[in-house]
Amino acid sequence: MTAYTIASMPGDGIGPEVVESAIAVVTAVAKKLGTFTVKFEELPWGTAFYKETGSYLPPDGLDTLKKYDAVLFGAVGAPDVPDAVSLWGLLLAMRGPLQQYVNVRPVRCLRGIQPVVRSAKPQDIDWVFVRENSEGEYAGQGGRSHKGFDWEVATEVGVFTRHGIRRIMRYAFETARSRPRKLLTVVSKSNAQRFGLVLWDEVAEEISLEYPDVKWDKMLVDAMTVRMVIHPESLDTIVGTNLHIDILSDLAAALAGSVGIAPSANIDPTRVNPSMFEPIHGSAFDITGMGIANPLGTVWSSAMMLEFLGEKKAAEMIMAAIESCTGDDETTKDLGGTLNTKQVTQALLNKLA
Ligand code: NAI
Ligand code: MG
Repeated sequence: MTAYTIASMPGDGIGPEVVESAIAVVTAVAKKLGTFTVKFEELPWGTAFYKETGSYLPPDGLDTLKKYDAVLFGAVGAPDVPDAVSLWGLLLAMRGPLQQYVNVRPVRCLRGIQPVVRSAKPQDIDWVFVRENSEGEYAGQGGRSHKGFDWEVATEVGVFTRHGIRRIMRYAFETARSRPRKLLTVVSKSNAQRFGLVLWDEVAEEISLEYPDVKWDKMLVDAMTVRMVIHPESLDTIVGTNLHIDILSDLAAALAGSVGIAPSANIDPTRVNPSMFEPIHGSAFDITGMGIANPLGTVWSSAMMLEFLGEKKAAEMIMAAIESCTGDDETTKDLGGTLNTKQVTQALLNKLA
């Protein structure tokens, strides 16, 4: 029997509330199937740990993570710590060094959920976003000079490498090829950003030649927001830069009902390092501790984790339980329901039983 050991990192805000839910669901599925075991080991890294020790990630943190089969993450960010300190202290301190260069974000209207845009049909929103997760606008290069003076200057350098673009484009074309429509949209901004994003377009063109069976087009990111709202049915797989897909995937999740449903997988496709699974939302200060956070994005992320580990049946069972809940209106407030986080978790467990 395969035994998996997963690092769970609940983090901050609603993170612990939604991670608890996903752990309960994964544990129940493993027990029910009886073909594999999952052991979760909690890592206490987050803002409380930072306040105690002075860093979000301990010095040997990355080495610790490498011992695990995967990581299940909640969120990081607290109202009394600058967001740039918390995000770079933990999340972005893991994605790059662990070479999780792909971020996959499926978004679709779950059963029973109506798209926010009235002209859209539920089946129109069925997308997979592929986000470049290791460079671009979040490469971490830049700095500030003349601090505090009126002539202070700050730079934020976007980094685009041929190697980095090639590997994300290949992943995106492969993803598009694996889906029935074999349709890819490459998001760009090569009209205004004439170096990095022009290279982005050129490499997309180059890699497309390896995939003659995939139909692809290019959209400038501003026009892409319009297309997502007006013609959602025209999209399937979407690839874009670190910043662009960060923004577009939040919009996508909202169009499909709530930011609380959307999952993500930070993947190192070489499998040298563990991959990390997390909802796309953040700490949600406004609802922290109220017990009403939607756990479905994290539960869906845990299904992606099991699928990545090779437990396809288990992943399918979790997705069926999720859609059974949304179909039966057993949802949290953000999706129009009346249940709290614990009640949705219990509903998921009931469906699995
Ligand atoms: P957010 O995603 O935390 O919240 C945006 C809005 O969506 C809020 O109104 C919140 O209540 C709602 N929301 C989010 N998740 C929900 C859920 N599961 N159920 C119901 N409603 C939900 O984004 P915001 O407010 O911009 O960021 C808050 C903090 O989180 C910041 O410190 C930010 O840097 C951090 N952050 C961390 C991320 C991560 O750890 N991956 C991702 C995004 C933000
Ligand atoms: Mg985001």
